[in-house]
Amino acid sequence: MSIKILMVCLGNICRSPLAEGILASKLSKKKFTVDSAGTGSWHIGHKPDERSIATAKRNGINISNQKGRQFSTTDFDTFDYIYVMDKSNYENVIELAKTKEQEKKVDLILNELFPNENVDVPDPYYGSVDGFDHAYKMLDEACEIIAKKLIEKHR
Ligand code: 4NP
Repeated sequence: MSIKILMVCLGNICRSPLAEGILASKLSKKKFTVDSAGTGSWHIGHKPDERSIATAKRNGINISNQKGRQFSTTDFDTFDYIYVMDKSNYENVIELAKTKEQEKKVDLILNELFPNENVDVPDPYYGSVDGFDHAYKMLDEACEIIAKKLIEKHR
């Protein structure tokens, strides 16, 4: 049985596609499934933002085949871990949870790096390319910790 991890942001074209690609690159595909979704519906079926694709590519990761989709309540059943990028994503996802068990699956991804600090991955969509590099760096550090924990926990 595969352990399933979902990355969630607002549009599913900038931050969560990066998080999906980065975490997937650190885990065995045999044991783990990594996916991403957006709380919004604007980019369903779209490729990630070209700036995210380029940032990932510079770091040796191909995210160009990903397709945007919207977060759904069934994701609470499908996924074991749900990582959100910022506090508004957290609120939007938690609103859809029906049980405490479902709520417990959700956390801000940077709490892995800065425990209990509730730091956001800033949305780089309206900013410069620097924002994408910054998001990449933060996500890579968080995903390194997540991957180590998951591999240890599910060995
Ligand atoms: P993301 O960034 O949540 O990191 O994918 C955004 C991308 C698009 C929009 C908002 C955020 N948008 O409003 O279209």
